[in-house]
Amino acid sequence: MLKTTYSVFLICFSLLSSISYGQVTAIQNIQGRKIQSLNGKWNYIIDPYENGYYDYRHDPFDQSKTGTGGYFDDKVQKDKSELIEYDFDHSPQMNVPGDWNSQSEKLELYEGNIWLRRKFDAKPEKGKRYFVYFGAVNYEAHVYLNGKKLGVHKGGFTPFQFDVTNNLKAGENSIVLKVDNIRKQDEIPTVNTDWWNYGGITRDVFLAEFPEHFINDYKLQLVKGNKNLLNFSVKLADATAGQEITLSIPELKLEKKYKTDAEGKVADEFTWNNLSLWSPESPKLYGVNIKTDKENISDKIGFRTIQVAGDSILLNGKSVFLRGISIHDENPLLAGRLRSEGDMRMMLQWAKDMNCNYVRLAHYPHNEEMIRLADEMGLLVWAEVPVYWTISWTNPATYANAKQQLTDLIVRDKNRASVIVWSIGNETPLSDARLSFMSNLAETARSLDDTRLVAAALEVHRDGNNIILNDPLGEKIDLVSFNEYAGWYWGGNPSEITKYNFDIKYKKPVVITEFGGDALGGFHADENTRWSEEYQEALYKNQITLLSKIGALRGMTPWILTDFRSPRRQHPIYQNFWNRKGLISETGKKKKAFFVLKDFYDQMQVKYK
Ligand code: GCU
Repeated sequence: MLKTTYSVFLICFSLLSSISYGQVTAIQNIQGRKIQSLNGKWNYIIDPYENGYYDYRHDPFDQSKTGTGGYFDDKVQKDKSELIEYDFDHSPQMNVPGDWNSQSEKLELYEGNIWLRRKFDAKPEKGKRYFVYFGAVNYEAHVYLNGKKLGVHKGGFTPFQFDVTNNLKAGENSIVLKVDNIRKQDEIPTVNTDWWNYGGITRDVFLAEFPEHFINDYKLQLVKGNKNLLNFSVKLADATAGQEITLSIPELKLEKKYKTDAEGKVADEFTWNNLSLWSPESPKLYGVNIKTDKENISDKIGFRTIQVAGDSILLNGKSVFLRGISIHDENPLLAGRLRSEGDMRMMLQWAKDMNCNYVRLAHYPHNEEMIRLADEMGLLVWAEVPVYWTISWTNPATYANAKQQLTDLIVRDKNRASVIVWSIGNETPLSDARLSFMSNLAETARSLDDTRLVAAALEVHRDGNNIILNDPLGEKIDLVSFNEYAGWYWGGNPSEITKYNFDIKYKKPVVITEFGGDALGGFHADENTRWSEEYQEALYKNQITLLSKIGALRGMTPWILTDFRSPRRQHPIYQNFWNRKGLISETGKKKKAFFVLKDFYDQMQVKYK
């Protein structure tokens, strides 16, 4: 009996403590703040039995009376008789940001727990607040500073931070994470995905310094469907009334002053004529400053409108065709998560080489830097949360997790002109529970941001030569988007697929989210030989003919820009844990189908001039 009460107490305590660890909603524009990078070499300990977290009775050290005993103490042997069975200083190191799979042969397939530790110097000042900020950690992170637990975060692709004001020491500090990337049915994503389960601290880590009352979040975007009405809002990290906020856009000679209300907020709408609107052809970004008497945040923000009207997509009121390509957050040359601006610029430049004006950043929130580069380079963006395949639709905790990840994505990227679509998922199997789960996510997206389109990659089914789209979720979203693999998974050889026709229930713009087929770069044969570049080339030619039958076709993001790693692709000659649907190989070689798509986009660019 005692044991049960104690474990119930533990559950309540850990729930309460994780909530009360000072985690606020993600801080807006972290790179525009006063930050110290904690990137670089981190020591790590592989811990498959979580020996550094649980004692030999499998009770967590950090929930014990003393809260000590785990690897998070980061102890160093002081006396020769002392027993310590770990030692970060003499453990191997890995680069952060960086997944662990691509940094060590023995971690390539590792799914489990790894401890990561970084020492750093700080000079905290009285009256200032300090946060440690993570761009993303896959999948579950337990975070400790100087042996004290800051909190726990779940979700592999969205930013989070913890308030460390009371734990940060003058001089040397030790930050320790226990990272667990084991896939679980009730998580988001669930256990089955067609991408590599890269674990670790995969994006930037910063120590950020703020004045006592700082700006936690802000938004500056055009009101839905209006080219001259700006919506501006600010939220301080605490409810301080009367804080003066100055918004300025020097290039426009715009300056407006506000005072925060009792909730520490500012909200305003004001007209500003003659804005140069952002578009892929003219990706105009304005220097924006948001100031208080203690901080001055700089950002670069573009302004544009996006709407659907009948079966057209209107960008700044003009009908567009989305010349797109799907992209994973992976550098094929590394075979690992994109780590640097250089990696990301390379991927987006390859898309531009194909004459794209649009990218689908599948299947999860990508690095914030990727979206800022899309703003700069002129690429529209489909952003997505990893509600992928067979999710636990009836589990409330699973829904709360999906909603949190969608919220974090929208909070982080709401000021990015390039983002035009919030996608709530990919290829989710039809059921009543799934429909309600996804409908609620669609509502969440609209409640957080009514200016952008809401979509999802739906599935089609076939009846004879008819490809049918009648997914009830189609009622709740703005685009008809679906994945269709005629010529690869079904429908015979590429030359046979033009016999199909489409039966699409909804009169909305159609943006194909996926079609494609594999080709091993450099393998040449006739167009009916599977895995050859010629097969993939013929598939693209015939898919374009097939899809051109859709009168409301307004875009596509074929699957996929580059070959990427997947544990589901085991053919020893053609795959070797690579999904080969890339139009560029893992050596950076453009396959023949790349040029088929480019030619088609050149034609569509002329047609939609
Ligand atoms: C699916 C899925 C992708 C997957 C692709 C494939 O449609 O959305 O994540 O990689 O098909 O089978 O290659």
